[in-house]
Amino acid sequence: MKKNILILNGPNLNLLGEREPETYGTMTLPQLNSRLTSYAGKKGAVIRARQSNHEGELIDILHAHRKWAAGIVFNPGAYSHYSYALRDAIAAILVPTIEVHLSNIKKREKFRRTSVIEPACVAQLYGKGAASYFTAIDMLLKKK
Ligand code: DQA
Repeated sequence: MKKNILILNGPNLNLLGEREPETYGTMTLPQLNSRLTSYAGKKGAVIRARQSNHEGELIDILHAHRKWAAGIVFNPGAYSHYSYALRDAIAAILVPTIEVHLSNIKKREKFRRTSVIEPACVAQLYGKGAASYFTAIDMLLKKK
C-alpha cells in the first residue's frame, strides 16, 4: 500500500534560501519539497507539502490530514519552543509525527534548546540540515 506523508513547515520557513543562509542553508523551500517528493516517490510514497506562518492554520492542516497521512514530517520553526496548541494537535491526530530542524537547536540560544512539541512526536531530528527531512521519511516508511 502507498504511504502518504505530509511535509509540514512552520513560520519563516517559506524564506528558506534567503533567510540566515549561514544557519539554514541556501536551498529554497520549493527546491527542498521537490527533492523530498522525488526521493519519496522512488520509494513508493506520496508527498504533500504545506507551509504556514500561522499557528491556527498549522493546526487546521494537521487536522485536515489526519485520515490521509500515514506519517508527518514537521518543522514547527519557533513554535517548537512554546506552542502547546501544536503539541496537542499532534497528540490528537494519532499520526506518527517526526519533528525536524535544519539547525542544531541544542547548540543555539537557550530558548531553542527545549521543544514542547517533542513529547508528542515519535522522534526528533536536528542539526543535519535538509538531511533530517530525508531521514524522517525513511524512518516513517520503515514503520508498519
Ligand atoms: C528551526 C529552528 C527554530 O528554532 C527556528 O525558530 C526556526 C527554524 C530549524 O529548522 O532549525 O524557524 O526550526
